[in-house]
Amino acid sequence: MTTLTNDAVLPIVATTKTMKALVYLGPGKKALQHKPIPAIAAPGDAVVKVRKTTICGSDLHIIKGDVPTCVPGRTLGHEGVGTVVEIGSGVSQFKVGDPVVISCISSCGKCDYCRRGMYSHCTTGGWILGNEIDGTQAEFVRIPYADTSLYAIPAGSDEDALVMFSDILPTGFECGVLNGKVQPGTTVAIVGAGPVGLAALLTAQFFSPAEIISIDLDDNRLAVASRFGATKTINSTDGNAAAKLMELTGGRGVDTAIEAVGLPTTFELCQDIVAPGGTIANIGVHGAKVDLHLERLWSQNIAITTRLVDTVTTPMLLKAFAAKKIDAKQLITHHFTIDKIDDAYDAFSRAASTKALKIIIDA
Ligand SMILES: NC(=O)c1ccc[n+]([C@@H]2O[C@H](COP(=O)([O-])OP(=O)(O)OC[C@H]3O[C@@H](n4cnc5c(N)ncnc54)[C@H](O)[C@@H]3O)[C@@H](O)[C@H]2O)c1
Ligand SMILES: [Zn+2]
Ligand SMILES: [Zn+2]
Repeated sequence: MTTLTNDAVLPIVATTKTMKALVYLGPGKKALQHKPIPAIAAPGDAVVKVRKTTICGSDLHIIKGDVPTCVPGRTLGHEGVGTVVEIGSGVSQFKVGDPVVISCISSCGKCDYCRRGMYSHCTTGGWILGNEIDGTQAEFVRIPYADTSLYAIPAGSDEDALVMFSDILPTGFECGVLNGKVQPGTTVAIVGAGPVGLAALLTAQFFSPAEIISIDLDDNRLAVASRFGATKTINSTDGNAAAKLMELTGGRGVDTAIEAVGLPTTFELCQDIVAPGGTIANIGVHGAKVDLHLERLWSQNIAITTRLVDTVTTPMLLKAFAAKKIDAKQLITHHFTIDKIDDAYDAFSRAASTKALKIIIDA
């Protein structure tokens, strides 16, 4: 095991035995507590001093008690940027002092699924951070399989913006845009203009579709979607979104319908608006069963895709960011320090009134 040598970070580890961490305490309960700083537990591990983290809708699902793999006592969070402060003997791609993006998906790089680029189903990894192992809403985090689960940050990068690459940008791109087969000149509808739907909106534009129609209940988020490049928006509060979309597309529907909410009604809307030959690309995490209208869709030559983000496109997205091809920073609306993380959760969970998208927490 290599121990800490970086002068800049040495005092933190040398003088602090415990760290602040946001801990899940069972349904409806969480608290900022002091916990021991994590140590290397396997040769492939790295310990990272978290500098920036954020909150995901999935964290709210955990706190509601929707994610049984996350047990009380767990440190929350699966997104962040930080500095490597300790590495195990098997880590070869990172050294102490390296700035890194932490992937929401941990991947061993060696199992059958990892070899197929399906990191989300890594047999000993996947979405474990802030779920089955302690996560990033803390001053320090242990990252297993560091070589294949951390990404080097180009020098001088905007770290706030880079937090968007831990989860939401690869999620919108892989589950929505790539699975949805967005192509030049095609038509796209994105149902849900939350951070993930907006990440799909930003990355869909790599492929120059002719139309991107954003659908949501929240006029503020639809205004953001227009700013981010949606060609048209539909407020679906009145239940007539499908009819309005058909009108906008000359009765044809869309080539790609991206579901970025996770409700039966929004998945059914995608079935109503997909054009013959089109694709429904599901991103949303669904907690309830949804009707599949094969009585109508059987003859429509459509495809339906599902995916847990693999983060296999993260290196590519980071290069696009470095080349200024994607403005990730515009997804950030609020900033808090870790001491005020309760206020950050409050702002994030009342997004309709606070207008929150992504919230940066300085750890
Ligand atoms: N597949 C994956 O790997 C993966 C990864 C991350 C997140 N997700 C999921 O993606 C989904 C979106 O995440 P998010 O962080 O953007 O969530 P969010 O809750 O911030 O955004 C959802 C948006 O949907 C809108 N909405 C709610 N009901 C609606 C309706 N009936 N019609 C139209 N719009 C409606 C809301 O106003 C909101 O803007 C969630 O289900 C999340 O769990 C999936
Ligand atoms: Zn997430
Ligand atoms: Zn694996």
